[in-house]
Amino acid sequence: MHSLGIYDSGVGGLCVYEAIIKQNPDLKIRYLADTEYFPLGQKSFPEIQERLKKACRFLFDSKCDLVILACNTATAVAIRELQLRWLPTEYPNSNKNIIGIATPITELMSDKYWHLRSRLGVILSTIATFRTGFYQAEFLKAGFNNFLAVPSDSLASIVEDGSRIEVEEVISQIMEPFMSRTSEIQMVVLGCTHYHWVKNLIQSHFTDNTIIIDPYDIIAERTNKYIESHPEYQTGRGATEFLCTGDSEIFSKQIKKFLDLDTDVKRVGV
Ligand code: DGL
Repeated sequence: MHSLGIYDSGVGGLCVYEAIIKQNPDLKIRYLADTEYFPLGQKSFPEIQERLKKACRFLFDSKCDLVILACNTATAVAIRELQLRWLPTEYPNSNKNIIGIATPITELMSDKYWHLRSRLGVILSTIATFRTGFYQAEFLKAGFNNFLAVPSDSLASIVEDGSRIEVEEVISQIMEPFMSRTSEIQMVVLGCTHYHWVKNLIQSHFTDNTIIIDPYDIIAERTNKYIESHPEYQTGRGATEFLCTGDSEIFSKQIKKFLDLDTDVKRVGV
């Protein structure tokens, strides 16, 4: 029985997972939280790409033909390498496929925020995502020519296990250089799935007119559409299996905290 594989380094992808399953409760999902390797956003490009190859191989070997990278860092740093080189070499003529989350984000911008394309926007992300320049380039191609990329080396970690006050402090720190322009900022794109969980705290650092763009539900919608139009990726039915590469008890507590779900987590090596 096939499953949809979802990859993230931790709790970030849980928001994408939750939206996918809400829209399509019949899907069988295997969620891999690569917690041993967290934070991905602090690693080098070659390290991230190698890790993603291992994680995708692990999911393919456990009956997931389609893997979604519910992680901006994995998408920005590794999706091209995985799709253009690794898959055709390692899995020629097979159904195995990996999709990232960049296209739905750019489409969302284009479909819904086109009228704001010349206004000042900010994309918040991890350091690794920032270094790729990936989203700035994607947005520019889509006509958005006034975006600042703002990285953080600690926000994702603090979302995992920090306090509300720590989150507040980090957001103030990363926005400090742009304080004088806060009232000009029209859009803030959450370019790291972890940031979904602190969206309200992020909003409180901007004016009420600033739109916080959180693409998790559009990513879920596009993923479900993709599965619908590619019958080979339709899954069996069954409960979600939550896997992690680090401490399974800790991740089980995270699932309770973020999804309010009591579930067992299995520790796996990838
Ligand atoms: N959730 C990941 C993302 O969307 C980042 C977290 C990490 O640094 O591992 O970029």
